[in-house]
Amino acid sequence: MASNRAVTFMGPGKMEIQNKGYPKLQDPKGRTIEHAAILKLVTTNICGSDLHIYNGRFAAPAGMQMGHENTGEVIEVGSHVERIKQGDICSVPFNVACGTCRNCKERHTDVCLNANEELGYCGAYGFNLGGWQGGQAEYMLVPWADFQLLKFPDKDQAMEKIRDLTLLSDILPTGYHGCMEARVGTGSTVYIAGAGPVGRCAAASAHLLGASCIIVGDENEARLDLVTESGYQVVDTSSATPVPDQIEKILGTGERWVDAAIDCVGLECHGYGPKGRTRNEEEAVINLLMEVIKPSGAIGIPGVYTDQDPGAPDDLNKQGKLATGFPKAWVKSPSFTAGQCPVMHYNRDLMMAILWDRMPYLTPLLNTEVIGLDSAVAAYKTFHDGSPKKYVIDPHNMTKLAMSA
Ligand SMILES: NC(=O)c1ccc[n+]([C@@H]2O[C@H](COP(=O)([O-])OP(=O)(O)OC[C@H]3O[C@@H](n4cnc5c(N)ncnc54)[C@H](O)[C@@H]3O)[C@@H](O)[C@H]2O)c1
Ligand SMILES: [Zn+2]
Ligand SMILES: [Zn+2]
Repeated sequence: MASNRAVTFMGPGKMEIQNKGYPKLQDPKGRTIEHAAILKLVTTNICGSDLHIYNGRFAAPAGMQMGHENTGEVIEVGSHVERIKQGDICSVPFNVACGTCRNCKERHTDVCLNANEELGYCGAYGFNLGGWQGGQAEYMLVPWADFQLLKFPDKDQAMEKIRDLTLLSDILPTGYHGCMEARVGTGSTVYIAGAGPVGRCAAASAHLLGASCIIVGDENEARLDLVTESGYQVVDTSSATPVPDQIEKILGTGERWVDAAIDCVGLECHGYGPKGRTRNEEEAVINLLMEVIKPSGAIGIPGVYTDQDPGAPDDLNKQGKLATGFPKAWVKSPSFTAGQCPVMHYNRDLMMAILWDRMPYLTPLLNTEVIGLDSAVAAYKTFHDGSPKKYVIDPHNMTKLAMSA
């Protein structure tokens, strides 16, 4: 029986590589599921969502196997799997979804009604969301394999473009979804809060969608440099000049508003200005987006918020509430959309865009570094400290791109 070494959450700030055992065709309650497949991981990425868990800001049980951004080769299928075959290389959407419930049928796989028995909706790998083990490991289980797996058409081509294709399990669809929520289209002006990997994918998606002025805000210089080098505009959120003033200057039209605004930061956001760097103000980004959005504009909020946040900065946040300026923004008639990205809504189209070289700007902007499984624990720390890289774990050295530990 093969081992299954996996990145395991042992408490805030503590990740370990443990042998979790080769997966069985069983759901989290131990029931046999013949609609499942077992995948050998080709790539599995570290995400800002993992950092919320690492930082103790998104509650998770000790012993949980991490990893929701998974791409793998199918090595075993249950007897009910008809179309997915051994040897297929597939992207695994991070949302676990059954394909038959009302929400899945309406393409809201982010809130599948059968993937999380405790909550009743919303399942994901490597979170406290339904008990599905993550894929930062050698092997993983994927239920409802025929419905869930996105098969890459050609294996050699997939391995050639793996640095970009590995983004299809989460952050590229998520950045794109943020743009869709914010109604980005040809000529839109866009403000994206956060220059992390999700913010950078949102900028690349806005580019693909034909946006005009794409502005990304952050305080992290190295991440902002990647954005500037790709030809987008930046604002420094730690500057003494308020962000709306910086946006007004960039737009150069005398307007202070953007057509579309996207939160790619979430609950761990810092405050603004030189002192803001050291302060967590959970409502800071949402309040800013309500200030800079044009009347009748749309705001997308892929940044994660939760009411299970033991490390929240104040009592209101600990109760799962935010002090927002919603009453003031109300009269602007803004739209808001939030929640997990329904990856399956977008992943095939974005795969085709990558395979046909329509997003050549992704690779330099994302700045991926492929690492071995034994380097993953250190990479969590480096990513947490603000590295401008997107870390991609290659547990079996299948891409031949991995740096050693
Ligand atoms: N909705 C979804 O389906 C989905 C999917 C993937 C990730 N996410 C979430 O998206 C968010 C971003 O993910 P990531 O991987 O890029 O994370 P990340 O932690 O790497 O990046 C966040 C960035 O935000 C910056 N930041 C902090 N405060 C800010 C502020 N006030 N204004 C602007 N920038 C600020 C930080 O300096 C950092 O560079 C996280 O909350 C993550 O959990 C959501
Ligand atoms: Zn992710
Ligand atoms: Zn479903």
